[in-house]
Parts: sequence; structure tokens; C-alpha cells
Amino acid sequence: MKKYLIAPSILSANFANLQKDIELVEKAGADWLHIDVMDGHFVPNITIGPGVVKNVKKCSNLFFDVHLMISEPEKYWENFYKAGADLIVFHQEVLTDKKQLLETIKNVGIKAGVSIKPKTSVETIKDILPITDVILVMTVEPGFGGQRFMEDMLPKITQLRNLIDVNKYNCLIEVDGGINVETAKQCLNAGADVLVSGNSIFAAANPAEALKNLKNINI
Ligand code: DX5
Ligand code: ZN
Repeated sequence: MKKYLIAPSILSANFANLQKDIELVEKAGADWLHIDVMDGHFVPNITIGPGVVKNVKKCSNLFFDVHLMISEPEKYWENFYKAGADLIVFHQEVLTDKKQLLETIKNVGIKAGVSIKPKTSVETIKDILPITDVILVMTVEPGFGGQRFMEDMLPKITQLRNLIDVNKYNCLIEVDGGINVETAKQCLNAGADVLVSGNSIFAAANPAEALKNLKNINI
């Protein structure tokens, strides 16, 4: 059985009771907690700031995977680090010098990653593969949970898997958007290491069971 991680996205959780929803996924076997930060500029939606991250950090031992869908990650990443982020992922599309920010984040002792939107190619991040801890492949347009998985993103995952394996890079492939048991299988077959899932867990009749089903895919 292939080893992979599940990162529930709290974007689809109940914001009036985040503690309860986070405890639920933690108990049910979540590996990471995916936190979607949106600024109403890079994406047409506004979500969570560092204050919320700081408070939920106090009620969870999960690895905090903070996905910054914001225009100026270089300005705000440190606030999320101080709030308890274990991994900070920023977007390829907003920065020309990605190396510098990756190194600055890694220097404080946490993990750093870069995300690519559906229209952004793997070529654009080839140069940072030797130094990034994670590449997050968006399989929906960023901004909202509950969208349909874009199957035409699968070749990007395969392309990344080959590049990482051939060059023996120490980089995880994370996939985000429209993940359910069926699409999770496709991503794992293509070579994904980490699967983000919001709606298919938190909108399920039984979120704990939905998470367990995602964790027990036989590949
Ligand atoms: C979308 C976010 C995703 C989102 C995934 O912009 O980056 O993390 O929460 O949610 P689902 O699994 O519902 O597509
Ligand atoms: Zn996300």
C-alpha cells in the first residue's frame, strides 16, 4: 500500500466551532491540517488571518499546513509562522524571486512550499524543485471549496513525480481541490504524496468516516 497523507481543509468546517471540527479530524486520523488563507485580492474570497491560526493551534497537535492565497506572502508569512504554521505555501504567480522567500521561511525552522494554479505549468517551478519542501498542485481555481476536480491537472502530477524521482529531490507533491475517494485514487496513481480535502470530509453526513475512507485507499 502506498504511503500518503490526508490534510483536511478547514475551509469547509464550521467556523463557529472550529475546535470541535479540528478535534474530530484529528481523532479520525488526519495527518495535517490545511488552512486556506485568502486576501480578497489574489483570490475573490476572504478567509482566515493569523489570529485564528494562533487560537486553533492551542487546541491541536496536528501539523499546520498554511496555504497562502494572497498577493504579498513576503509581507505576511511571518505572522503565520508566529501563529504556529509548520508549513507555509505561497503561490508561484505572485513572486518572481521564489528562492529567496523559500529560504527565508526555511531558515526559521519550518517547511516551505510553492503552489501552482491550474493555468500555471510545472516548467515555471522547475528551478525551485531542489529547495522546496512541497509543491502544491491546484486542481480547482483557488478561492472556494466544493468545486469540481480538474482531471486535466493529472499530467502535472505525473510530470512532477518523474522530475522529483529522477533527480532525487526531497519534495512532496500536495494536491488541492475537489478531492474525494475517486479523485484521490487518480492523484495517488499519478504520484501525489499529500491530499487536501475540505468538502468531501466536512460536508459528509459522517465526517470521521469520510476521512477514514480517504485514508484507506488501496493503491
Ligand atoms: C481552494 C482551497 C482548497 C479548498 C479545497 O481555493 O485552496 O484548499 O478548501 O476544498 P475542497 O476539497 O472542497 O475542494
Ligand atoms: Zn488550499
